[in-house]
Amino acid sequence: MEQTRHMAVALDGPSAAGKSTLARAAARRFGFLYVDTGAIYRSVGLAACRAGIDPKDTAAVMELLPGLRIDMAYDERGVQRMLLDGEDVSEAIRRPEISLYASDVSAHPEVRAFLMEMQRDLARRHSVVMDGRDIGTVVLPDAELKVFLTASAAARARRRWLELREKGIETDPEEVRRDIAYRDQQDTRRAAAPLRPAEDAVFLDTSELSLEQSVEALCGLIREAMER
Ligand code: DC
Repeated sequence: MEQTRHMAVALDGPSAAGKSTLARAAARRFGFLYVDTGAIYRSVGLAACRAGIDPKDTAAVMELLPGLRIDMAYDERGVQRMLLDGEDVSEAIRRPEISLYASDVSAHPEVRAFLMEMQRDLARRHSVVMDGRDIGTVVLPDAELKVFLTASAAARARRRWLELREKGIETDPEEVRRDIAYRDQQDTRRAAAPLRPAEDAVFLDTSELSLEQSVEALCGLIREAMER
């Protein structure tokens, strides 16, 4: 039987660099599946929060893992939904405190190993634009295109604050900035699959680009990769 060849686009970068917005737009343009891997880590973070577990406590988090049922589904508009033990937690995982839980639980190698197959399996079955922190370096090292998305800390903090406000979540801008700085440090310095660009990643800095310009830049890179 002829094997269908799928294309993988790995999009990595720090928190609030605009990965999900850009990845979603590019995936729609090319008819690829958009996979938000941060949402998977957030689901584990939410489970730890609900269980009253310290997310930095490796033993406690490991004990929680085998009992967790994390599923990903796509609704009729192609939007990714996260299910935790059958409950749709797509909104609950976006709360700012869950961002910190997600960053903490994601530092455990056991958690990363637990979620790896789910991510690779999606890329085996579909052409994907997958965003995260270690997609180009660890999850999909053979991706046809790896993009490392960056933006200044100030631009990222402002965008994240606006995004939360749009969702009706009012936060203090200074707190948003602090949360992003905390996650930057932690996601970059952890021993297990830290955030870093793959050697063959293309850098895309969106600090000075509008959303439309950023989408066009990413789509241009994908088009080039498809023609290679
Ligand atoms: O992309 P995000 O902000 O929703 O991700 C939430 C946290 O999950 C982030 O602080 C680090 C972690 N994460 C990770 O370690 N690896 C990924 N591939 C995606 C997210």
